[in-house]
Amino acid sequence: MTNLKIDPERLWDDLMQTAQIGGTPKGGICRLTLTDLDRQVRDWFKARAEALGCTVAIDDMGAMFARRKGQHADIPPIAMGSHLDTQPTGGKFDGALGVLAALEALRTLVNAGYETFAPIEVINWTNEEGARFAPAMIASGVFAGVFTRDFAAARQDRTGVTFGDALAQIGYRGPEACGGHKLSAFFEIHIEQGPYLEQEGKDIGVVTGVQAMRWYEVTVTGQDTHAGTTPMPRRRDALVGAARIVAAVDAVARKNAPYAVGTVGILEAKPGSPNVVPGEVYLTVDMRHPDMAVLDRMERDVTAAANTIGGELALEVAIKNIWNQPPVLFHDDCIAAVREGAAASGFSTRDIVSGAGHDAAYVARIAPTAMIFVPCRDGISHNESEYSSKEQCAAGAQVLLQAVLAYDRRLAERLRS
Ligand code: GLV
Ligand code: MN
Ligand code: MN
Repeated sequence: MTNLKIDPERLWDDLMQTAQIGGTPKGGICRLTLTDLDRQVRDWFKARAEALGCTVAIDDMGAMFARRKGQHADIPPIAMGSHLDTQPTGGKFDGALGVLAALEALRTLVNAGYETFAPIEVINWTNEEGARFAPAMIASGVFAGVFTRDFAAARQDRTGVTFGDALAQIGYRGPEACGGHKLSAFFEIHIEQGPYLEQEGKDIGVVTGVQAMRWYEVTVTGQDTHAGTTPMPRRRDALVGAARIVAAVDAVARKNAPYAVGTVGILEAKPGSPNVVPGEVYLTVDMRHPDMAVLDRMERDVTAAANTIGGELALEVAIKNIWNQPPVLFHDDCIAAVREGAAASGFSTRDIVSGAGHDAAYVARIAPTAMIFVPCRDGISHNESEYSSKEQCAAGAQVLLQAVLAYDRRLAERLRS
């Protein structure tokens, strides 16, 4: 083990500085993917990486790869990273910590003049959140061969702007074909976004995998009619049907406790007038569980409930599955490197399965991958009050650095023998 130490102050300064780009009055960040604010933070990241002597490549999905040479240019880089886009009411740490801790780890290597065996890369993935363009994790999904470039470029936001056009608009459609280069490994540090590390007083989560998740778009169609003159028995109110579907999603998730979760995050009623019975509703459903068989059953139960509701209220209910992410198991060698990194720094750990989606979940399909979690206050995330302390962020960044160096040493041993 080396005694290289990341600098907690520098990391914190970067977090606080970039949090100004899209900063909200409540202390969070609204930096939706491929907006001008996203361009600004990308420019910041590129300038910082170049100042450290890195080359910055950009692919045709806008993913950014800041690379520092190692002893062997022909070996694929050991990569670390996450995302700089946020939710509409995002916090300062979701994603940003993964990119900025990686930058800090790289800066520590540069300042120490430490030459790694493999090149080291810091990645900023495009549209991890899926808040503007569904589904989530689009660039890492294309990188891993899960989505095609054409599929990704054609995704539309709720105003009809495509991912491809938005990417060109901010000047970040790069020349490299997404997925065009290999990675020796990938490490992602992230805030836990849940309560377990804090509850159990652990410093570091050794993430062994990611639970399965599915997204659906549901359209409920009834009939627009006059709110004052249409007797209740004659109505086909799409919003009443949608409300019952929301309740059904919640009930199905609760029935599959303790691990199942189910969420309706978007609900749009048309035509949107106080005195018109809504004739059409669009809603999204997000359901997750570590076990695919349980998720299959949840899908069947919600679909059956929605169809029953449609029948009872004379509504048409169309359910479209738009994203299907199976559970992910991370790589033993990367998990071992994380454990080694945490032990070297004397941090307490707990194994954990991620409830949230992450770019690492897709990268794991094409390269050995693992994640590091740090606690966050009250387990709150996707919220402007999201918070991890300077010390917690620094602990994660330190483990990240040590894990990457441990993996680099193993790689050198393996390839030299
Ligand atoms: C990513 O933010 C997710 O939805 O898990
Ligand atoms: Mn994230
Ligand atoms: Mn997120």
